[in-house]
Amino acid sequence: MAFSSKVSTSVVLLLAISLVGSLCLVVSAGNFYQDMDITWGDGRAKILNNGNLLTLSLDKTSGSGFQSKNQYLFGKIDMQLKLVPGNSAGTVTAYYLSSQGPTHDEIDFEFLGNLSGDPYILHTNVFSQGKGNREQQFYLWFDPTADFHTYSILWNPQSIIFSVDGTPIREFKNAESIGVPYPKNQPMRIYSSLWNADDWATRGGLVKTDWTKAPFTASYRNFNANACVWSNGKSSCTSSSKSSTSNSWFSQQLDSTNQGRMKWVQKNYMIYNYCTDVKRFPQGLPQECKMS
Ligand SMILES: *[C@@H]1O[C@H](CO)[C@@H](O)[C@H](O)[C@H]1NC(C)=O
Repeated sequence: MAFSSKVSTSVVLLLAISLVGSLCLVVSAGNFYQDMDITWGDGRAKILNNGNLLTLSLDKTSGSGFQSKNQYLFGKIDMQLKLVPGNSAGTVTAYYLSSQGPTHDEIDFEFLGNLSGDPYILHTNVFSQGKGNREQQFYLWFDPTADFHTYSILWNPQSIIFSVDGTPIREFKNAESIGVPYPKNQPMRIYSSLWNADDWATRGGLVKTDWTKAPFTASYRNFNANACVWSNGKSSCTSSSKSSTSNSWFSQQLDSTNQGRMKWVQKNYMIYNYCTDVKRFPQGLPQECKMS
């Protein structure tokens, strides 16, 4: 008697878990009309092809940008970008997650343009409670202007993993145990913008934007958010849905294969790492650098 009631309870529980699990799995599969708001640029940002394509443009008068309608507190977020082709020197395409306020959290991808044939720099950073200064920069192993490529952020309570076409390039681990604040309480929106930063972007500001080549255009498609949506002070994910198999991203960590792939990228394509910049941190490297 006791046994059978136990069995049926666990069956009901299992059903409930998988149901809630699938509800939590907020899969936003790429309709920009549904998912994004164009926030600035006076007509320079456009949603096209029934919501399947979004373009940002920049000219001498203005850049442009968009943000997600939803706020997220943890998720796996993928977007395909095709960057400004040709002479993109001086331009920056930013694609990031951010919360609001002076002690905000932020997870950044920034693409620094270059002269035709010279490599873009993929700049990354992580802010927790208003503090950043955690830059890592990379060249890419392909021409990011020739085609769309997938740029992903996996953000869960254990770590933040930046990936390019499924290859992890950077991991920021939760280092709260050694006193480093970790983004985990402030919901974030997705933001993206294309703007002029020729005072610093290309070769440290040496190469200026060539306005005769304007307008500059970057394109976006296949947005996918497998994420916990935050609204009215609560998350769409529950404790049981977080552990369901359909939300494996919530507890995902780099396996040894992926650690190896990340090492390969960092060895061959990383051009700046704050964790090795001893000149910049004469009092000692930031705490979290001791973890990786
Ligand atoms: C642009 O190209 C130059 C020359 O190859 C390189 O030093 C620089 O890192 C490249 N990227 C940027 C954004 O400056």
